[in-house]
Amino acid sequence: LDALHAACPHVTWSTEFSPGQTFDAAVVANPPPGTLTGLKGLRLIQSLWAGVDRVLQDETLPADVPLARMVDPAMTAAMAETALWAVLSLHRGFFDYTAQQRQTQWHQHPQRRAEEVSVLVLGHGVMGQAVSSRLAAQGYSVTAWRRGEPPGLALQEAHAASSPGAVCTLSGGAGLTAALPRAQILINLLPLTMQTLGILGAATLSRLPRGASVVNFGRGGHLVEADLAQALDAGHLKHAVLDVFAQEPLPADHPFWRHPKITVLPHVAALTDLVSAAAVVADNLDRLARGLPLRHLVDRHQGY
Ligand code: GLV
Repeated sequence: LDALHAACPHVTWSTEFSPGQTFDAAVVANPPPGTLTGLKGLRLIQSLWAGVDRVLQDETLPADVPLARMVDPAMTAAMAETALWAVLSLHRGFFDYTAQQRQTQWHQHPQRRAEEVSVLVLGHGVMGQAVSSRLAAQGYSVTAWRRGEPPGLALQEAHAASSPGAVCTLSGGAGLTAALPRAQILINLLPLTMQTLGILGAATLSRLPRGASVVNFGRGGHLVEADLAQALDAGHLKHAVLDVFAQEPLPADHPFWRHPKITVLPHVAALTDLVSAAAVVADNLDRLARGLPLRHLVDRHQGY
């Protein structure tokens, strides 16, 4: 609230309200369902979260009010950093060395060059693009996959974009089928929708080459946890870095906490940055006041 006051000094903010009251806009961070019911005059619902899957689950959310997701440059930068940390750690075996230290084990693994490591980034929105270009700039062989667009176009693009440092983009089911067997590291940054729910299940994981690793920075709902555990335990997959889970906080007795091949983060791959997010809110409120097009609007039908 302090950050919003500072970014929007001319706006009157309320944190307590009741049905029948009039507001121009609501700034939300996944409030309980029904929170906005009965408010009058709303012309914008601005999410402080990048992913709007939870807010969209609220069936009482006013259907006729534009919903904007958070596209916060500092948050996007944080996501690129965390993705780089995960890829570097997997590529250079740093998770293995951490485990070795616990066992006082002095053992050197072969060192590979970055360009020998192929990374597949699922999702080519703001965050997916930032992650893909950061990793490509670091020398990794990056393929970015987006769900939409016809597979015919995807194959064409795949042929076109294989110069060093460039990101090869693929799309559609055929694009994913082509990309999975070549991916040594898969990073998920897709939005959670009915189309992407469970996308990281046995059908996808089994197409990855033996020894591949999986990074989930999207949503817990993308991952079929039992299928991941099975693929790790069978030795098909090497390691998983998970930031998001079906149930958060991850329950203390969840086996992932202690799984030797899983690194758990408490949903911190990219947090909303209060100062820069408040500036994004201020910009949309200003646009609302001036009748200009609002930014980062969600297509509710698509779910992101
Ligand atoms: C975090 O997961 C977000 O969607 O902002």
